[in-house]
Amino acid sequence: MRLTDDEKAMLEGKEGLARQKAMNLLVRYGEALGAERLVDTNNVGGYMVAKKQHMMEFGSLDALFSEFNLDSSEVVEFAKDKVKVFSCQFETTMDPDFWEIQGKSSEDYRLMLANEEYLARGGVALMCTCTPYLVGNVPIKGEHCAWMESSAVVYINSVLGARTNAEGNSSATAAMLTGKIPYWGFHIDENRLGTHLIDVECIVESQLEWGLLGYYAGRMVKERVPVINGIKKLPNLIKLKQLGAAAASSGGVEMYHIPGITAEARTVEEAFGKKQPVERLSFGTAERNWAYEALNATGKDTNVDFVMFGCPHASIEEIWEICKLLEGKHIHTNTALWIFTPRGLREIADRNGFTKIIKDAGGVLMSDTCPALGQLIPKGVKVMATNSGKQAHYLPSVMGVQAWYGTTGECVDAAITGRWRGVLK
Ligand code: F3S
Repeated sequence: MRLTDDEKAMLEGKEGLARQKAMNLLVRYGEALGAERLVDTNNVGGYMVAKKQHMMEFGSLDALFSEFNLDSSEVVEFAKDKVKVFSCQFETTMDPDFWEIQGKSSEDYRLMLANEEYLARGGVALMCTCTPYLVGNVPIKGEHCAWMESSAVVYINSVLGARTNAEGNSSATAAMLTGKIPYWGFHIDENRLGTHLIDVECIVESQLEWGLLGYYAGRMVKERVPVINGIKKLPNLIKLKQLGAAAASSGGVEMYHIPGITAEARTVEEAFGKKQPVERLSFGTAERNWAYEALNATGKDTNVDFVMFGCPHASIEEIWEICKLLEGKHIHTNTALWIFTPRGLREIADRNGFTKIIKDAGGVLMSDTCPALGQLIPKGVKVMATNSGKQAHYLPSVMGVQAWYGTTGECVDAAITGRWRGVLK
């Protein structure tokens, strides 16, 4: 790998041990990937979360992060050396205001606070959300980033035209310390071109339908780049957020094009460059039905004891929509309602009275984490309902629950009645 003078200086330890270890890791990582060089980044996002069992083994956050995030048995002082470029913590394992009802112990809670304090000392911004683009971290077209979190990666690559691969803990931490990341994958123009053409032959309009389209696209193209053609109704941020998250869950999609809507292609031809699609697919009624059945495959019992919104973390518009349906009502005694939104938006929800509407109805507005990532659901839950394709995909295997996938209205109805009555219209 060719290194610049500043990269060589870091590798030689001229900027301290932490940057040296980080650069060493990036060089090994880049060489394994076949990258010829590194690229500068000023925007890094990851999950730097200390696990209890690892703390018991390593004894300090410095030792733990050195081992797991920098692949170094020699202990480096991350918090003392500090990040070199703008860096964010994307999510954590619990909401510090609701850790008890999320089933976490006081020991877990204290470790989470220590983890946050450690990151803050190191200069990491505690955004604590998988939708940082809703609360101020909005990379511009062409900006090289180093982000973890599949739903955020596919959103900024596709909708915003920023450039990132789905990084891991180690590469993201190393990028925080050096401002560098291997130049490969979606940093390179050619790899951003479409591979598969999907002709949409039915109306895709609701948030649910965008989730179904994403789930189908991911399942069919795996990690490749779908070009979605034939969209008649302009989506919004919420629908594209659902599309990408579902596609990333069923297949690992990190980039897609919707010509005329997403950032990098005005036409189908532009989306493919000089290439031809490797496959041409259709998304019609049969495919839509298949995706709906697949996402509802575990739903058997219509008694719902948990309703979850906010995957990816909800925008203020989504909270407003839920509140319109919920205001003045009360959720069923056997059902819990948890809604997840970025920390930064909860302040607005509080001031607007949305938090109170949710609380008065018996629900809770939470931040910082989610059921799949934090592995947290209300005690004893067997059947959940959600408007998120990603949670419906993951929670049955992560938490052993049955999942129903439906519209926001159907999920609010399930919270109020304790029954699943969703149907694909
Ligand atoms: Fe975010 Fe958790 Fe969903 S990290 S995208 S709310 S699985």
